[in-house]
Amino acid sequence: MPYIVTGGAGFIGSHLVDRLVGTRRDTIVIDDLSSGNYINKRSKFIKHDLRRPLKISLPKGSGIFHLAANPSVKDSMLDIFNHFDRDVKTTLNTLEAARKSDSEFLIFLSTSAVYGDTRKIPTDESVAPNPISNYAEFKLLSEKMIEFYSKTYGLKAVSLRLANVVGKRSDHGVTVDLIDKLRDDPKVLELLGDGKQEKSYIYIDDVIDAMLLTVKKAPKYFSVYNVGSSDRISVNRIAEIIERKMRVSPKHVYRPFGDGRGWKGDTKMMQLDSSKIIRLGWKPRFNSSQAVSKAVEDLLEGA
Ligand SMILES: NC(=O)c1ccc[n+]([C@@H]2O[C@H](COP(=O)([O-])OP(=O)(O)OC[C@H]3O[C@@H](n4cnc5c(N)ncnc54)[C@H](O)[C@@H]3O)[C@@H](O)[C@H]2O)c1
Repeated sequence: MPYIVTGGAGFIGSHLVDRLVGTRRDTIVIDDLSSGNYINKRSKFIKHDLRRPLKISLPKGSGIFHLAANPSVKDSMLDIFNHFDRDVKTTLNTLEAARKSDSEFLIFLSTSAVYGDTRKIPTDESVAPNPISNYAEFKLLSEKMIEFYSKTYGLKAVSLRLANVVGKRSDHGVTVDLIDKLRDDPKVLELLGDGKQEKSYIYIDDVIDAMLLTVKKAPKYFSVYNVGSSDRISVNRIAEIIERKMRVSPKHVYRPFGDGRGWKGDTKMMQLDSSKIIRLGWKPRFNSSQAVSKAVEDLLEGA
């Protein structure tokens, strides 16, 4: 039975595909290449824009990892229609393909952003979502649609609410932004927000472990798991880590939005309580500082 990875040409998807083909699993990537690159040629590739229904049938009983989306919170506040299509329509079309092919499971990547500005930190899955960005709202809508399909058609489905994922091949997020800026100008560093925003960061390998664990261990029907490291670090601390590794000491210029956020829809503080998936058997190897340090090394090596 093959595994399907929508968005398999992107940052997280390409790592998942490497892991799957490394264990000799037949793997099919479905991606429109709007942002990713098809890297692992041992997987099959279907170029398709999932804003439209799939024209072909998936092999019966396939397992599906649904990652295709536009992951930018910032852009979602500027281009709502495009984001709705990429974050919600892609989910509906993937669910229909899953239903028609009697898929064995569907693993979905959601986000810590669904909790918005919650006061309960670390935040566990019992906290009511309260999105403050279109991206988070659309991820929550996708979760609801998946839950409905799961109950109605008996599809085993899992939604993983991820903290910020870092690592090689990442092309967005704070680590990439700060490194790019320092490569352009090592003397001045612009930081979005007041630098005091504190969030949790997780290394890519730990995320892939969580995805594969839930395939085996999550119960049938629909379940939600937080996936994050057990601490959080500030943007100022991330800048320090990067500057030390790049051996530069720039002047900081802050660009706060409103009460110190990086942009509209940004959360100021995020740390997940991931006890539920840890009880299932997940063992993250890196905390936030270690994850960021390792990712910065990857990115500086151009890995
Ligand atoms: N990176 C993070 O920190 C993070 C955190 C939480 C959740 N997520 C979620 O994980 C998933 C993967 O994120 P990523 O960081 O790898 O993003 P990415 O942008 O690197 O990958 C997304 C992939 O989806 C593809 N895609 C986009 N629209 C498509 C469409 N209409 N049809 C087919 N393919 C399409 C893109 O070409 C790209 O290859 C996303 O759903 C994202 O929302 C990411």
